[in-house]
Amino acid sequence: MRADRISVGELQELLAAGRPVTVVDVRPPSDIEWEIPGSIHVDAYGDLQSGRLGPLVELNLPAGPIVTVCGVGRTAAIATDLLRANGVEALTLEGGMRAWSLAWNTAQTTISGCKVVQVRRTGKGCLSYIVASHSQAVVVDASVDPDVYVRLLRERGWRLVAVAETHIHADHLSRSRLLAHLEGADLWLPAQNRAKYSFRAVADGDRIAFGSTALVAMRTPGHTEESTTYVLDSIAAFTGDTLFLNSVGRLDLEGGTRGELESRARVLHMSVRRLLQLPEAAQLLPGHVSAPIAFDGRVLTTKVATIRDTVALTRLDSAAFVEAVLARIPRNPPNHARIVELNQRGEVPADPTELEAGANRCAVA
Ligand SMILES: [Fe+2]
Repeated sequence: MRADRISVGELQELLAAGRPVTVVDVRPPSDIEWEIPGSIHVDAYGDLQSGRLGPLVELNLPAGPIVTVCGVGRTAAIATDLLRANGVEALTLEGGMRAWSLAWNTAQTTISGCKVVQVRRTGKGCLSYIVASHSQAVVVDASVDPDVYVRLLRERGWRLVAVAETHIHADHLSRSRLLAHLEGADLWLPAQNRAKYSFRAVADGDRIAFGSTALVAMRTPGHTEESTTYVLDSIAAFTGDTLFLNSVGRLDLEGGTRGELESRARVLHMSVRRLLQLPEAAQLLPGHVSAPIAFDGRVLTTKVATIRDTVALTRLDSAAFVEAVLARIPRNPPNHARIVELNQRGEVPADPTELEAGANRCAVA
């Protein structure tokens, strides 16, 4: 490793430990869709391409190392060279924001006597979960390298008994099959005929037992036909892409006639209504957020009562909900067709970063 570079893993560790580090993002403003939490944007791209620091000269940089970042690390390396020539302790983030897509952090809480670790892909907004009761654990929606979950499980002395998916994802490559295989755990997917590998099919009301409790499957179609929420002791719900912290899920990505879209939106409305019948104090733990996730150890969650109060869409009747959802379908996430195809085959390429680059677009605002 060169002394003027830093890897995604090393930067992630510095941020998780709260060590002093300043991330300077030199991408052109038009390229910035997602960022590293706490980073400073400096519009110096054009200057750097011409070998000048430009506005970076005037930057009043705090103590501690400076990490320069751009799309894939090339322009940031120019910034690093120029800053170092000026006596600044600068390091280039290897692979830039494309590589940062794999960065993660965690937050932990206790719900109904179970330990819940939220494993968050900060560079993409994907949330996955390790839920443990009496040292037996279930992972929901594995989205980072399987080794990450294995390490977190070992550190806590937990044994993985099951891996469950809420649906077939379109925004990231699922690591659930690999993780289940690695740890010899059961792999549960909502019943459907799209996945081309073997799994245990989950139907409404099925229980995935672990420790002294279970996740109970609640079929919540709409985002995708098979979308399923997993409910823990009626007091927490892992909602996948059906209900987020401040929005509802979008319809799944394949097109369809206006009539088909309307009928799917009606189904989504029923699913959202069903989720909101959980107790008011029940915690909702979604599959995504739509902003970079801070290294602050705070679990991203909300309560049923809060969603009801704050997300106007959830209070609409069916007809108004359908109209609102169809008027606000976001752009498809990048490479979604290829990602769905690989998830249906249960495959993850050796380097997933090119396919997975970019933010998720799972919510209807
Ligand atoms: Fe999704």
